[in-house]
Amino acid sequence: MSDADALVIRPAPLEQTLDLRYELLLAVLDGWPREEAQFPGDDDAQTTHFGAYLGDRHVGCATLKTGDWEGDPAWQLRGMATTPDVRGRGVGGRLLEHVEQYVVTEADCDIIWCNARGPAVGFYERFGWNVVSEEFDVPRAGPHFRMVKPLSGGA
Ligand SMILES: CC(C)(COP(=O)(O)OP(=O)(O)OC[C@H]1O[C@@H](n2cnc3c(N)ncnc32)[C@H](O)[C@@H]1OP(=O)(O)O)[C@@H](O)C(=O)NCCC(=O)NCCS
Repeated sequence: MSDADALVIRPAPLEQTLDLRYELLLAVLDGWPREEAQFPGDDDAQTTHFGAYLGDRHVGCATLKTGDWEGDPAWQLRGMATTPDVRGRGVGGRLLEHVEQYVVTEADCDIIWCNARGPAVGFYERFGWNVVSEEFDVPRAGPHFRMVKPLSGGA
C-alpha cells in the first residue's frame, strides 16, 4: 500500500474498539444489537485491544484475551477486522503480525487461536494458521472454523 508508512498499530480504547467491531463485524449481519459488540472478558485486566490507524483514521481492530488451549496457557484472538476501503492493502496482515508478536514478546506465550469466520480462513492460513476443527455454526454469524498458530519464541 502506498500509505503503508503511515500505518500505526497500537493499543486502542475499549469503546473505540467496540464501535469499529460493531460496524465491521456485527452491523453487517442482520439482527445484531449494538450491546452484543461487547464480548465476555473484553474488560479483563489482561485483555488488550489493538487498533490499526492511518493518521487519525481507525481502520482495523483486533482483541487478545487469555484463553487456554488444550489446558495450556494461550491467547485468543477476537474481533479482527479492517475497514472495507483498506482491505487487500496489507492492514490486516500488519495487525495480525502485531498481535502475534505481542503474544510472544509481551505475554511470553507460544499459542494463539481464534474462531475464524469461513470467508476469513484463507487470510489466517496465509499467515501460517491451521484449521483444527470441523466447520461449526455461530448463530447469525454463519460458518466458523477453529484455527491455531504455534508461535516460536514464547514460553
Ligand atoms: C479478513 C480481513 C481482516 C483481512 O484484512 P485485510 O486488510 O484485507 O488483509 P491484508 O490486505 O493484510 O491481506 C494480507 C494477505 O492475506 C490475503 N487475504 C486477505 N483476506 C483474505 C481472505 N479472506 N482469504 C484469503 N486470503 C486473504 C491477502 O491477499 C494478502 O495476501 P498477500 O500478502 O499474499 O498479498 C478483512 O478482509 C476483514 O475485515 N474481513 C471482514 C471481517 C472478517 O471476516 N474478519 C475476520 C473474522 S474471523
